Amino acid sequence: MKNIAIFASGTGSNATKIVAHLKNHASIKVALIISNKATAPVLQMAATNNIPTLLLHRQDFYNTENLLTNLAEYKIDFIALAGFLWLIPPYLVQAFENKIANIHPALLPKYGGKGMYGMNVHKAVHANKEKESGITIHFVNEHYDEGNIIFQASCPIDPQDDPSIIQKQVLVLEHQYFPTIIESLLLM
Ligand code: GRF
Repeated sequence: MKNIAIFASGTGSNATKIVAHLKNHASIKVALIISNKATAPVLQMAATNNIPTLLLHRQDFYNTENLLTNLAEYKIDFIALAGFLWLIPPYLVQAFENKIANIHPALLPKYGGKGMYGMNVHKAVHANKEKESGITIHFVNEHYDEGNIIFQASCPIDPQDDPSIIQKQVLVLEHQYFPTIIESLLLM
């Protein structure tokens, strides 16, 4: 059985789709859901699905390697970042080289990097009058949104589409592809 940990900071709609997609899977299990926000709805989703959770504290996360012990306890093989807003520290990138995937709501390398998350991305895409946007699923390294790209999917943008319309169209792609891409990476 391959065990996945999902890291999320907020709503967790991507995490919810991943959990649903892998429910009763023969060889892959969402073994742990981790958040940096005690009030994140994703933790409620975890409880509803009887998935263990872990709350991160910034000091511990960046100044100790205690998390590696927790991940080992749950025999975690792979990490999916599903709306996780903290930069992944070097010890974790190194311990899980090419085993951490992130989903970014834009077509990297454009519209990536520090501060480019959520609506900030879609507002920038809209301001630049882009004709398309989309998603990028990539391996994680020590820099925001710069790891090797695994998969991209795009969607057209009409001139009258405002940032919230763009966000909705991109979120559909996230939900459609992140679960199946994660599954394919674990089955390789
Ligand atoms: C999504 O837009 C995702 O691309 C980005 O953070 C957001 C997560 O949304 N990384 P949710 O918490 O999964 O609903």
